[in-house]
Amino acid sequence: MLRAKGQFWTPDWVAEFMIAYVLCDRPKRLLDPALGAGVFFRAAKQHAESRGFELSLFGRDVDSGVIEQARRSGLSIDDLQHLEIRDFVLDPPSEKFPAIVVNPPYLRHHRLSLPQKMALRVFARTAIGRRIDGRAGLHVYFLIRALQTLSPGGRLGYLVSADICEGVFAQTLWQWIASKYKLDAVIDFSSEAAPFPDVDTNALVFCIQNAPPSKYLNWIKCHQRSSEELTSLLLGKARKKNHTIEVHRRDLAEAISTGLSRPPSQAEVDRYTLGDFASVRRGIVTGANDFFFMTLAKAKQLGIPEALLTKAVGRTRDVVGEDFSPEDVERLEALGRPTRLLNVNNLSFDQLPASVQAYLKEGEKRGFDQKTLIQTRKPWYRTEVRIPPPILFAYLGRRNARFIRNCAGVVPLTCLLCVYPNHDDTNFLDRLWGVLSHPQTVNNLRKVGKSYGGGAIKVEPRALERLPLPDDLVQREGLAKYAQAKQASLVDLFDRSSQVADEEAKAL
Ligand SMILES: C[S@@+](CC[C@H](N)C(=O)[O-])C[C@H]1O[C@@H](n2cnc3c(N)ncnc32)[C@H](O)[C@@H]1O
Repeated sequence: MLRAKGQFWTPDWVAEFMIAYVLCDRPKRLLDPALGAGVFFRAAKQHAESRGFELSLFGRDVDSGVIEQARRSGLSIDDLQHLEIRDFVLDPPSEKFPAIVVNPPYLRHHRLSLPQKMALRVFARTAIGRRIDGRAGLHVYFLIRALQTLSPGGRLGYLVSADICEGVFAQTLWQWIASKYKLDAVIDFSSEAAPFPDVDTNALVFCIQNAPPSKYLNWIKCHQRSSEELTSLLLGKARKKNHTIEVHRRDLAEAISTGLSRPPSQAEVDRYTLGDFASVRRGIVTGANDFFFMTLAKAKQLGIPEALLTKAVGRTRDVVGEDFSPEDVERLEALGRPTRLLNVNNLSFDQLPASVQAYLKEGEKRGFDQKTLIQTRKPWYRTEVRIPPPILFAYLGRRNARFIRNCAGVVPLTCLLCVYPNHDDTNFLDRLWGVLSHPQTVNNLRKVGKSYGGGAIKVEPRALERLPLPDDLVQREGLAKYAQAKQASLVDLFDRSSQVADEEAKAL
């Protein structure tokens, strides 16, 4: 229920500094378009009262249950007189507001209904003039609508999951925002100060004005659950240095290309990326692992010959450490883990042994041929093919996203990415491995990955190709001569990012 409506309440100390920012110019009206239990209303009332100015509160929510919750949290009927139970994005207010504060519903795209998704995409396309990738969640559309609802000079405080600057849609979105609005500050939280410690995603606060863009912004790392120092900074006041925050004055273009959820990139533009030496593809999507992926023992029992099976690995957990060897395949087999993928692609049905024909017919009886992804294939049991990649990449892990040397010649299912070096001589491979397995390279993953709570990151194929490889390691391994050294420009990054909505990433 909580998750279905994306209801995660803002802690008071976060509401306090967000309110201080949006009410800085003592506006007459404030809008919270996703009211929930009303934490922003309470903070705003207190703020205006203590400074002696009149403020009218306007709210929205789709859930009428919030009225009761807001009353219980201490708001009066009078405070809620301008609350409307209406959808903010698709049925927006007709007037504009000088102060808007939002903790939007955190609903990932797969929780939106198809008609809702279609309507949201049309809205975004009209609003920003570019297509927003279909994987954007409701919080992305909320931001666009909130910006559109700001009156000239108005201020927006937006508390949101960090994936808003990391998803495939991020560059399009931030490029648009940076060209139209003034991004005053981005606040990132270290784990001790996480606003939602139990949620598996990092949060950020954006402070944005409906004013001409500026070339710089304050990028702030907050280390303690305290609003005082942050408030002084956001209001441009002298602050007592309590060291609860760390402030970086950043160039906007640098911040957007590095990713607004990431600290400033220390060095000049990284000279080499993985894409200079290798290409990356996702692993195989079977559409039905329980049919196509099996143990060798089961294959033997079914009478499926080895020639029609490909060795495969299906789970990140099945790979221990940085090497995957033939002994590992045997170990998995002994544990009863599937290690063989059915591959009958090169033969017509009539050419297949009777035992395999019977297994495919059994699959049809069990309805595998009707599954969404599978029914688009002709014939339905034709599987995707990958050459076994010399290097695998575990792309989603709590602190253990890593490269793996594939000495077993397996192909991975979607749990892992395939890394194909541009040259197949072993010398090149060994040198590239020397760079990829180095902790400094692994540390760079946070520059291209999406961060989740607890230090976990996820890296998609195109993003992995952008992984910066430390210059000194590339030189030390003698790899520089294999790459065309380049300076990645911001334009490059924007151009590339708009092409990123590729099928590969979609399947992840
Ligand atoms: C994350 S909660 C935030 C509540 C509160 N402002 C806070 O900060 O604690 C988001 C709220 O948005 C509401 N909501 C979900 N979809 C909405 C929509 N399309 N328009 C307006 N409100 C919506 C949810 O019911 C929920 O109460």
